[in-house]
Amino acid sequence: MLTDPIDSQLLDAAPNLRVVSTLAAGFDNIDLAACESRGIAVGNTPGVLTDATADLTMALLLALARRVPEAITAVRDGEWLTWEPEFLLGMELRGRTLGIVGSGRIGSAVADRARAFGMNVVASGRPDGNNPGLPLDDLLATSDIVSLHCPLTDATRGLANAEFLSKMQPHALLINTARGQVLDQVALAAALRSGEIAGAALDVTDPEPLPPSDPLLSAPNLIVIPHLGSATVRTREAMAEIAVDNLLAGLAGTPLPYPVGRIN
Ligand code: DGY
Repeated sequence: MLTDPIDSQLLDAAPNLRVVSTLAAGFDNIDLAACESRGIAVGNTPGVLTDATADLTMALLLALARRVPEAITAVRDGEWLTWEPEFLLGMELRGRTLGIVGSGRIGSAVADRARAFGMNVVASGRPDGNNPGLPLDDLLATSDIVSLHCPLTDATRGLANAEFLSKMQPHALLINTARGQVLDQVALAAALRSGEIAGAALDVTDPEPLPPSDPLLSAPNLIVIPHLGSATVRTREAMAEIAVDNLLAGLAGTPLPYPVGRIN
């Protein structure tokens, strides 16, 4: 599971291990170099969770932009007394700019959905130089909503830090369905409290779950949900099929259908 660190300590304790099959597309919890040096194959489940994760990103985007959690609370707590012209006004999507940080499969699927809502989409470039995209500073300065879709790597750890947030517009919203460690949560809490940005929605945090006492959870205009990007019946079944196929191939000594790294 993505919650299990697969590091040298674990590998040293498992001398007969031949294959690691993770039930996830992300594999930042696995020390690939340590697996490779021991000849252990690693497989993941890419592709099948693209639509589910892109759908959830749009769910968070809409919930945040249209203040759905506050609306539910208002009805439940009896705070909604009558229809009012200026009650819980939110942000409409048509003509707004969505900035995608990390335009891989999921980022591109979110872009398709956002265009269907009439949004302008801009995307940052890839670190490998493929797909040059917009410089990050320009993306942050022009986006009404910024959505993180990059994998967690040494280059992206803490990418969305205080400086990143300070370059966003004060009315802008931030969505993270990538990995919690891509975002500096202390900086996010400060940015929400000071009004430097208008709101954030997180499917992922560091750690998971956040302790209920974490100061981030009391920040204003924040939605946090429990890492549900791929959580649909169809997607989890497809992920399980691939994870099993990777595992069986590894045990049989045949190439993994979805390998990660160089051992296969
Ligand atoms: C992944 O696959 O990396 C997601 O975070 C969980 O589905």
